[in-house]
Amino acid sequence: MGGLKGQHIVLIVGGGIAAYKAPDLVRRLAERGAEVRVVMTRGAEHFVTATTFHAISHHRVYHSLWDTETESGMAHLQLARWADIVLVAPATAHLIAELAHGFAGDLATTLALATDARLVLAPAMNRRMWRHPATGINVETLAARGARILGPATGELAERESGPGRMLEPVEIAQALDGAGPLAGKRVLVTAGPTEEPIDPVRFVGNRSSGRMGYAVANAALNAGAEVTLVSGPTALAPPSGAKLIPVRTAGEMAKAVDEHIADNELFISVAAVADYTPKQPAKDKIKKTGKTLTLELVRTPDILAEVAAAKKRPYCVGFAAETTDVVEHARAKLREKKLDLICANRVGDEHGFGREDNALVAISADGETDLGHGSKQVLAERLIALIAERLPHESG
Ligand code: PMT
Repeated sequence: MGGLKGQHIVLIVGGGIAAYKAPDLVRRLAERGAEVRVVMTRGAEHFVTATTFHAISHHRVYHSLWDTETESGMAHLQLARWADIVLVAPATAHLIAELAHGFAGDLATTLALATDARLVLAPAMNRRMWRHPATGINVETLAARGARILGPATGELAERESGPGRMLEPVEIAQALDGAGPLAGKRVLVTAGPTEEPIDPVRFVGNRSSGRMGYAVANAALNAGAEVTLVSGPTALAPPSGAKLIPVRTAGEMAKAVDEHIADNELFISVAAVADYTPKQPAKDKIKKTGKTLTLELVRTPDILAEVAAAKKRPYCVGFAAETTDVVEHARAKLREKKLDLICANRVGDEHGFGREDNALVAISADGETDLGHGSKQVLAERLIALIAERLPHESG
């Protein structure tokens, strides 16, 4: 996303308890050289006062669409033109819904509709509200239009519940916007999702991967400042804004896309559930129901990760291992066989893994294991990226 020096940021403060962190966010953005103007929603005024923002930003704070102090009461147009980035923090469920549907009932939503600036949201809400399909669709709508979504983190929430919904810390938001995270300047290629191997024009051999884990890893790498290429099998997910998406269908297409884009990447994270076998000769026409049995001849697909790891000039290689039994032992064997730097073992088939929002991961390298714990895929991805960032400069080959 580039540096923040000289960038004009309009910070829209939504009406949630995390609004108490917004004054610190103004300070963190200013420390990095950004100029910040604050717009408070009516809800935000219940949690924090305009005086605080005025004192920290050294500028007047905007509240109303009908502000006579601003020349001809056109604050929304002035701010919309002035902004390079419109940052919504905290982005409440209500504000996200209004933005997704293009409502323009107050200064915050009107200026968001009137601007060409980049929209960035730091969601914060109760975990049930975050997981509600309505919120999910609204977030996906905004992301599909190019909005960048930072967080939320998982942890203790205001109502003493735990789960996803915490606003990222101000320093993390400022860091992510500044492109100054621990992977700043690094190029990362991530594979995600399933592959579909055609049997005939209407059928395929597939698997249950939703792409969530891989997309979370891509998002975490972006938040850490990396330039991210995401090679993805078919999923129903909106790609993280800022990533270069290369959609593929089969293992063969994924291998080709990785081969074409891997040069100059310092890090390769292979989260995709790649089919190990593909039908030798997909039928040209739909196979008819004739015999009692049907035999398909399958042939091995290329092992994309092993091939990248075997190359002379290779990035730091991270694999994933989905196992149902002896999870760590099997993952360790794959680490050795594929000559990887790190592998993340996850148990699949019970309460974790494929398709679910939560996961549990153990990162394994030649020198030991790190338990990344259990949690949302986004939180685990952030932990994994932090671990990789610590190791990257020392271990990449
Ligand atoms: O997508 P989700 O629903 O969120 O689920 C996430 C996940 C369970 C799919 C993910 O966390 C995961 O474990 N992905 C790897 C699953 C897997 O297929 O593992 P594997 O043991 O078959 O392969 C080991 C490694 O080699 C993986 O990094 C895989 O991407 C890679 N591989 C495998 C086969 C192949 N032909 N080419 C590869 O690159």
